[in-house]
Amino acid sequence: MIVAVDGPTASGKGTIAAALAAYFGLPHLDTGLLYRAVGRQVYLDGGNPDEPDDALAATRFPESLLDDPQLRNEECGGLASRVSIHPAVRKALFERQRAFATESGGAVLDGRDIGTVIAPDADVKLFITASVDARAQRRYREMQQRGIATTLAEIAEDLRRRDERDSSRDTAPLTIAGDAIVIDTSKLDRAQAIDNAIKAVNRKI
Ligand code: C5P
Repeated sequence: MIVAVDGPTASGKGTIAAALAAYFGLPHLDTGLLYRAVGRQVYLDGGNPDEPDDALAATRFPESLLDDPQLRNEECGGLASRVSIHPAVRKALFERQRAFATESGGAVLDGRDIGTVIAPDADVKLFITASVDARAQRRYREMQQRGIATTLAEIAEDLRRRDERDSSRDTAPLTIAGDAIVIDTSKLDRAQAIDNAIKAVNRKI
């Protein structure tokens, strides 16, 4: 069984994907980490994330980079969003994601283009969304807990910028697959969002 979980930044898709993987006993790939690793490698190489050649060179990052806690920070998120625009970068990461989806006999993948490009044949496609306000609030609380100084307005602005970039790029933009089940988590807490997702998968299989 392949489960595709797509959605914008801070929609709750990562939490939902991890919970589905645990519940259904499937391996989980957070594909954003791959783009974040490319973004971080460009930075470590002193390259320019907006230059397709620099970004492509960075797709040959060492496997160990995927364990770097730095990948989770906002800087890497921004860099990931910039390198992910380049078609050559997406192509270089395609096989890796496709292999994960098909070779382990089932998987949960979360990202932006799983249901549309990486696994258009997925058994279940979920599109997780939430209002900018709800997503900004969540990100803000997370940052406060980690002791990172920022404002709600700054976070909301960054989310809008990232949504715009992810939705308007030519290659594999963030779009809802025609056969995806949409879950809006704006008014749901973590447990409710997970429960909705498990029920949605169970109805499909
Ligand atoms: O999901 P996450 O915030 O970790 O993703 C970081 C960035 O990587 C996104 O803003 C998006 O630009 C890019 N990305 C992508 N396709 C994916 C996963 C992530 O373009 N499948």
